[in-house]
Amino acid sequence: MGNYNIATLAGDGIGPEVIKQGIKVLNQVGLNFGHKFRFDFAPVGATAIDQTGSPLPDDTLALCKRSDAIFFGAIGHPRFDNDPTATVRPEQGLLKLRKELGLYANLRPVAGYDELTHLSPLRPERMKGVDILVVRELTGGTYFGDKGRRDGGDTAYDTCVYSRHEIERILVVAFDAAAKRGKKLKLVDKANVMESSRLWREIMREMAPRYPEIEVSYMFVDNAAMQLIINPAQFDVIVTDNLFGDILSDASSVLAGSLGLLPSSSIGAEIGMFEPIHGSWPEGAGQDRANPIATILSAAMMLDHLGLVEEGDAIRQAVNETLASGVGTEDLNPKKQVGTDALGDLIVEAIR
Ligand code: IPM
Ligand code: MN
Repeated sequence: MGNYNIATLAGDGIGPEVIKQGIKVLNQVGLNFGHKFRFDFAPVGATAIDQTGSPLPDDTLALCKRSDAIFFGAIGHPRFDNDPTATVRPEQGLLKLRKELGLYANLRPVAGYDELTHLSPLRPERMKGVDILVVRELTGGTYFGDKGRRDGGDTAYDTCVYSRHEIERILVVAFDAAAKRGKKLKLVDKANVMESSRLWREIMREMAPRYPEIEVSYMFVDNAAMQLIINPAQFDVIVTDNLFGDILSDASSVLAGSLGLLPSSSIGAEIGMFEPIHGSWPEGAGQDRANPIATILSAAMMLDHLGLVEEGDAIRQAVNETLASGVGTEDLNPKKQVGTDALGDLIVEAIR
């Protein structure tokens, strides 16, 4: 029995409506297991820019720092996407949050649901047994390299910088994750071209003997992109840098049939952040159409991280049951289509 303070950053677009479903589910878990979750709301992203001028206001950051976990919706708005000259952007809120809080490890699990294999862009037989965890480095690499990004003229720089310390700590997370799963760890990089990738490989080779039970392997990122499509079942844990991880986790996420199903956690520091991997889908906002499952499963990852694994399992089981009953939001092309709110209610009901 515990009290937990959850910094709740719903963000932009469909963020608020999917977060609402996650809160309903957590409250039901609280009732079942005798926990109390307090949700403190704060703005982030485009919403925060509109309210305060900053994508990550100081108050929001301070709230995150004093909370037990961060529950995050989505950020982004098209009015910034099409304007390369915008200097204040919603995404900066997320990047700053990751950096300031030291959330260097991003865990993105991708597993197929048997009843949804028909939704996958891959043939059902290729989806058999797919269960992948992408471990993406989140606070280094090209996303954060070298601040002098423009020489004032027609040359622009994005520098990929990694230190031994940054690589070692993310590899520890990946080895530990592999030990708890299928015991296979693949480093995905571009070591045939990039020096930073060669450092990753060097350190991986050094560390591997410390984990004799883990089968270590290496793959170039271009090949990995292809292998994820032709034979995704070969992968267990993939560990990779920030940019490659961004791309490969989106690619692997659609294997399951809908981006709306996949949760993520960002960890490393004492506090963790939990969010659906989909974006803010501004065109769908406020229409009760978004799939809340990615957010609800992110809440389950949050519970795991707080040490409440049985509680997390209760959520996962409720989601499985609900999907198996044939209901779902429109992205799931279900037998019985329901809206965001109704799907949240059904999952709450399944937990109760
Ligand atoms: C993600 C997103 C972010 C990223 C954007 C919004 C900055 O795509 O979480 O994968 O690129 O990391
Ligand atoms: Mn991304």
